[in-house]
Amino acid sequence: MAAERGEFSSRFGFLMAASGSAVGLGNIWGFPTNTASNGGAAFLFAYLILAFALGYPALMAELIIGRHTRSNAVAALKSISSGKKSQFLALAIGFVGIVTVSLILSFYAIVSGWMMAFFLDPISRLLGLTSLSAWLTTDTEIRNAVFVIIFMVLTVLIITAGVKDGIEKWASRLMPALVGILLLLILYVFTLPGAMDGLRAYLVPDFSRVTDPQLLVNAMGQAFFSLSLGVGTMLVYGSYISKDENLPVVGVLVALLDVGIAVLAGLLILPAMYVALESGVQIYDDAGGLIAGPGLIVSVLPALFSNMGPIGLLVAVAFFALMTIASLTSSISMLEVPVAYSVENRGIPRPKAAMVVGAIITSISLVIVFNFDPLFDMVVSFTTERSQPLLSLFICIFAAWIWRRNEILEEIRQGSSKAEQGMFWKIWPFYVKFICPVAILAVYFQ
Ligand code: PFF
Repeated sequence: MAAERGEFSSRFGFLMAASGSAVGLGNIWGFPTNTASNGGAAFLFAYLILAFALGYPALMAELIIGRHTRSNAVAALKSISSGKKSQFLALAIGFVGIVTVSLILSFYAIVSGWMMAFFLDPISRLLGLTSLSAWLTTDTEIRNAVFVIIFMVLTVLIITAGVKDGIEKWASRLMPALVGILLLLILYVFTLPGAMDGLRAYLVPDFSRVTDPQLLVNAMGQAFFSLSLGVGTMLVYGSYISKDENLPVVGVLVALLDVGIAVLAGLLILPAMYVALESGVQIYDDAGGLIAGPGLIVSVLPALFSNMGPIGLLVAVAFFALMTIASLTSSISMLEVPVAYSVENRGIPRPKAAMVVGAIITSISLVIVFNFDPLFDMVVSFTTERSQPLLSLFICIFAAWIWRRNEILEEIRQGSSKAEQGMFWKIWPFYVKFICPVAILAVYFQ
């Protein structure tokens, strides 16, 4: 017997959950540093275009399939396919999605663990616990393992509570807090010397870079990762949206929130880096580029905070709270994908499914922690650069080539009765059918 399905109780709840999934380390860390190392506003410009021209149509494909089928990704793709071959493909795409999202969560939990450790560090210093502070900020396998476990336990606890009492409740609490902290931090950093140089680095475009294929590849990867596409997350969240909801509108709102928060994060991170430079912190690497990788968050910014004096402690707590919140609202959406499958297709009760899947992913995370150099970058680039865009491509193919067009329209009309006269229906079907697959492949093979 099918397990009873959850549903988001309001548009606000869905928006917080879906934008919570979208807004994560990719926005607050990935986007600003990608912008800085790819020609400033030239990247911003390419990103905005790709997010709306490719990301939004692909996001809509997931939301529509999810809400129509009211099931997890594997079952959903299977139920919109008719022939044997397409059903087999549906299973394959669904399972690769589950494996990919689990691997994404396994590296995401490691980075999120660092954020939690750096969040606790200023508190431990305030309490005079200097050796704890040193332990928290020293990159050791054991610290990383401990925080992976803590972070995964939090993720599992929220998912165990279900769609409304777990995902929706926590996203609705955490996302407004995230926006509030982000705005306060931006206002504060803007008052510091050097901030305007950072703003220039962010907003003055280097137009010679606009046609650089690498810039386009990075911008597309950023857009797909940031909108959590391809791996079934948005499909599963779509399956919990009420039938009265106007899908094209909520999809636009999710994309706007995601892009808007990425752009805001740029207003924080780049000025903060130049403020750090002004206060004597090294912000360029040996090759002369801005430090962008883990070094940025775990060395440049903490060095800046410690140069700020006592207020630096408060700023550090706020900043790492922001990062932890952003991580958690994304990690729960990742865990929901395999959990929804286990509950619905395997009949496992939700708490047990969350615990077992959570334990498996934690174990993979720990394997990466203890073999960091050979594994971490490999898992990141395999999942986000290879697997995610291709899976998204296949979901577009399912929506546009395999699924019946009148069923799609019917689904959209549930929440907007005049859908076929609207802009969305005039553009989107053609878009997902031709433009998205070709553009994804073109950028992919760059
Ligand atoms: N969108 C998240 C971010 O920008 O950090 C990452 C993410 C979440 C990727 C959920 C994939 C996913 F299924």
